[in-house]
Amino acid sequence: MSSPQQKKKHLYVSTDKHRWWKEAVVYQVYPASFKDTNGDGWGDVPGITEKLDYLKDLGVDVIWVSPIYKSPQADMGYDIADYEDIDPSYGTLQDVDNLIKEIKKRDMKLVMDLVVNHTSEEHAWFLDSRSSKESSKRDWYIWKPAKYDADGNRQPPNNWAQILGEANSAWTWDEKTQEYYLSLFTPEQPDLNWENPAVREAVHDVLRFWLDRGVSGFRMDVINLISKVQSFGDAEIKVEDNKYQPGDKFYANGPRLHEFLKEINRKVLSKYDTLTVGEMPFVRDEDEIIRVVGAENEELNMIFAFDIVDIDNVPGDFKYTLHPWDARDLKEIINRLQRLMLERDGWNSIFIENHDQPRSVSRYTDDSDEFREYGARLLCLMQTTLAGTMYVYQGEEIGMRNVPPSWEPSEYKDIESVNFFKKYQDMYSGNEEKQALARKIMQKKSRDNARTPVQWTAEPHAGFTSANAKPWMRVNDDYKTVNAKAQLDNANPSPGYLSVHAFWKRGLEYRKENKDVFVYGDFEVLDLEDKKVVAYKRWSEKNAFVTVLNFSGENVAWDKLGDLKVKKWVAGNYDETEIDSKAKSGTLDLRPWEALLGLVE
Ligand code: NOJ
Repeated sequence: MSSPQQKKKHLYVSTDKHRWWKEAVVYQVYPASFKDTNGDGWGDVPGITEKLDYLKDLGVDVIWVSPIYKSPQADMGYDIADYEDIDPSYGTLQDVDNLIKEIKKRDMKLVMDLVVNHTSEEHAWFLDSRSSKESSKRDWYIWKPAKYDADGNRQPPNNWAQILGEANSAWTWDEKTQEYYLSLFTPEQPDLNWENPAVREAVHDVLRFWLDRGVSGFRMDVINLISKVQSFGDAEIKVEDNKYQPGDKFYANGPRLHEFLKEINRKVLSKYDTLTVGEMPFVRDEDEIIRVVGAENEELNMIFAFDIVDIDNVPGDFKYTLHPWDARDLKEIINRLQRLMLERDGWNSIFIENHDQPRSVSRYTDDSDEFREYGARLLCLMQTTLAGTMYVYQGEEIGMRNVPPSWEPSEYKDIESVNFFKKYQDMYSGNEEKQALARKIMQKKSRDNARTPVQWTAEPHAGFTSANAKPWMRVNDDYKTVNAKAQLDNANPSPGYLSVHAFWKRGLEYRKENKDVFVYGDFEVLDLEDKKVVAYKRWSEKNAFVTVLNFSGENVAWDKLGDLKVKKWVAGNYDETEIDSKAKSGTLDLRPWEALLGLVE
């Protein structure tokens, strides 16, 4: 195999395109489950402030906080009733000012979650809009008359399914004004009408409000759904046994998306120095992605692409499905997105966890007691050696797991899980096999997996809240062994091994020391065909590295290093005192879930 440097032009990101937000390590806080300081069993803003030194020590530069605004919490704060106030359950605006001050003191930054595809049904705008057809805010939301079927029964304006409750319509009937409003996620989250310039201006003001208060950017919730195809037609029937259908063709990257994003950029973002990351579900089209994140395009810095976190969904079906995958699928995605951004001057976000996804160690590796730590370190090595802005989700740095399979469905709190389980109960009542399948899918895919309280210590409730409080969500049963304190107290549990936390800390540090390679360098995947191993080369003018990851629980003799010669293995998830005995060329013997990083010639 000829070396990649010989066969093509080097694609390093040139230094004039280096930016702080490309090099930053972003840590996502899901505030309800992060740290409770007032003993009500619900995390709060002072809890985030309390843990800043922990985050700084880990290597975090930017903290993204999921919504803490005033909210009835129908969707855990992604239903906002007031964009310019904090929900009392989290604290006050003064607490946020103090958080910002303390963050800045530590030379870090704060990024807020901007949820403007929809509001809460309790937002003053919507209360006004639904008060009468004549309301001046009526067209701030999307209202349509009913349709009637052949039997004269009232039906929603089209067949789109609700995103967080696929058995239901995306439209909600309003008794008072006798029309439907669009509510893509849940009835409590009416969609804003972005066609209306007054709505857009109000959103711009929200951005300014927070930027002027000292925040450094936004994670923009489902930002690619803000422009809808105005015909509001029926979606194609894809899921036979469901009355309502995925409607994303009509609202993901709709006709005016880029215009709206450019407008935000021109009127607001261009006047500040910000990090912007758009959550962009459903979209795979490369031109569409580059239109948003291409450096020339002046829309957003980067997006969350869903390819990796959708890897185990049945294509075309809803998310609560199980689909087999192997290392080839993962390599195809990584290769495609890494190359795309290099070749077309875009920018990646590197993430495999967040509050909407199961825990990565359970999902992509093996979370048994035997392999959990190996799996967590493997995933760390993968992420810290890929190009893009690095995102770590709370608890990922200690290898937190999914909830145990033994938990009853009543432990699952999330509206999406609740709706999914109800669908199976309604559709397959009395069918034990289907009920068991529903439980299995929930345990593997549910968002609740990521929402259990962070395990800080081995004390009651994992130290998340005071001993006599009741956490809003049950703590994972494994907290006595899986917790931050145990890993901090014992960073080197046995010779040659680092705790998952220590491995992350070192990985983030190493990434920064070698940012010319890991953040800005070129990329080439090795061996797309192997079903078990993911491997790639990263390099700059100065240095080159190879990452080799055995995504299987088996021993693998991997012989695709080709003409790459390892000078030195620099990190591994097994005993590092023996790492030097690993082969440096030819065939590499990999143990189950083994991960290696090597400096190459
Ligand atoms: C994406 C958020 O991450 C998720 O938690 C939420 O339910 C939906 N958007 C709706 O806001």
